[in-house]
Amino acid sequence: MIFVLNKTNTIANQFLAELRDTEIQQDKARFRRNQEKLGEILAYELSKTLHYQAKEVQTPLGIANINTPADQPVLGTILRAGLPFHQGFMHFFDQSESAFITAYRKVKRGGSFLIQVDHISTPNLNDKILILCDTMLATGQSLVSVCKELMAQYNIKELHIAAVIASTVGIAHVRANLPKAKLWVCAIDEEMTSKAYIVPGLGDAGDLAFGEK
Ligand code: URA
Repeated sequence: MIFVLNKTNTIANQFLAELRDTEIQQDKARFRRNQEKLGEILAYELSKTLHYQAKEVQTPLGIANINTPADQPVLGTILRAGLPFHQGFMHFFDQSESAFITAYRKVKRGGSFLIQVDHISTPNLNDKILILCDTMLATGQSLVSVCKELMAQYNIKELHIAAVIASTVGIAHVRANLPKAKLWVCAIDEEMTSKAYIVPGLGDAGDLAFGEK
């Protein structure tokens, strides 16, 4: 299952256009805030697929019956680029716990590389819904390695992967390796450079949000 936000014309397209625009990108606060907004919108769309249970709420004048989410998903992100997007999800799933993961590319002799999942800081994910927020789904290799590591450690009930921009290659890699994961993306781009930057994409999301390393 894949949900693509920009298939429908909404105000979200404005936030996405600003994120990609080299001039507007110079404003780091706006760059981060636009990612937060897209995280909020995707969180809202995703929330339509969760289970709800009836809740009675005492108001000053009586009892209101409201369906509220039966489970609070855990919100995960891979440091550091995904932080603003994750923040957007946190604004809507505001009672959720969070997981933070670091991973890096370990270059092997001959130039090939493997993904090393470095550090995981997470609440218990057994029987939990996990939403992993990663701004750019490029090759999908880090994301798949991280998910596999988490799935080896925990019995995750449901896995959602959210990205601002996904490449077709990244989507195919996720689908091949995590067939049960549900994907939530704002836009899909067709191309990638040899250094795995998405084209047209938006550039280096981590550097634009937090400064060059
Ligand atoms: N990470 C980024 O920040 N940008 C890309 O285009 C791909 C991966």
